[in-house]
Amino acid sequence: MQDSFLNSNFDLSHYLNNKRDITALALRKVIKTYFSDTRLSSAMQYSLMASGKRLRPVLCMAAAETVGEINDDVISTACAIEMIHTYSLIHDDLPPMDDDKLRRGKPTCHIQYDEATAILSGDALLTLAFEILSNPPSLKNAVTQLQVIKAIARAAGHNGMIEGQMRDIEAETIPASLDELKKIHHLKTGALIEASVISGALLAGGTTQAVKQLKIYAGNIGLAFQVIDDILNVEGDADKMGKATGTDVSRNKSTYPGLLGMEKSRQFATELSNNALHALDIFGNKAVPLSALAEYIIQRER
Ligand code: IPE
Ligand code: IPE
Ligand code: MG
Ligand code: MG
Repeated sequence: MQDSFLNSNFDLSHYLNNKRDITALALRKVIKTYFSDTRLSSAMQYSLMASGKRLRPVLCMAAAETVGEINDDVISTACAIEMIHTYSLIHDDLPPMDDDKLRRGKPTCHIQYDEATAILSGDALLTLAFEILSNPPSLKNAVTQLQVIKAIARAAGHNGMIEGQMRDIEAETIPASLDELKKIHHLKTGALIEASVISGALLAGGTTQAVKQLKIYAGNIGLAFQVIDDILNVEGDADKMGKATGTDVSRNKSTYPGLLGMEKSRQFATELSNNALHALDIFGNKAVPLSALAEYIIQRER
């Protein structure tokens, strides 16, 4: 695998397909092992198996390959992170939050089922994710696994994603300054992306120095990812994205295009992606996939 990274003709779409296939296979195994024939399991599966980009699992695996190799613990952790991300989307779409009706090209969980079921299936995905994290396939690295669980819990919790969601809602009433918006985006989106990268690196045996560099990389792409999400909400194609556009303006959200305008927002995303690329220098050719992903994040159309 590493040899192919030396080839300058690195094929990102092949790489993405391969990692998405690995994720789909592992998620199907999770469903077979843990889900049952209930309404709750059905709603969890409905949202989890819809066509998400699987960016966080891909990043987790790509970080592992940058410092070592993908192993079963990396794959299982990648799945748990995707479950946490899916739960966050289910709750984000609820009427008291963003009140969205389309997600991943399908009716949102609360539209397809009902609000109570959507709340509960989000809760259940989050909880199951931590059950899976605490039951890694190889029980060899208990100390590292605890480090990973802590990093993910902190990223997803009240000093991470949830605080970001809280501030995002508050900023609908009191518009955020540029500094505050950066903080909101870092918390609501960047934190879990950062945890995905760090978890993959830790579980593949990354050194302290490697993890430090990857944290800089991830902080930058995490923010860039949300800046592009803001831009796509204005000028993206709803069919391609599988979710509605124009909603940030109608809900009075604080966004980069709203504060900086479209051109400066794009410039900012490019700057962030470049910062991320610089942080990868120490890894040489091993970081070709992560480099390609940093570029993909700012060029994506969905
Ligand atoms: C959407 O995330 C919510 C944000 C954090 C911006 P993604 O764009 O990764 O959504 P999926 O997983 O592809 O559906
Ligand atoms: C979603 O942010 C962030 C989380 C779900 C934690 P947004 O509300 O901006 O994302 P979309 O546009 O609905 O996917
Ligand atoms: Mg939101
Ligand atoms: Mg939303």
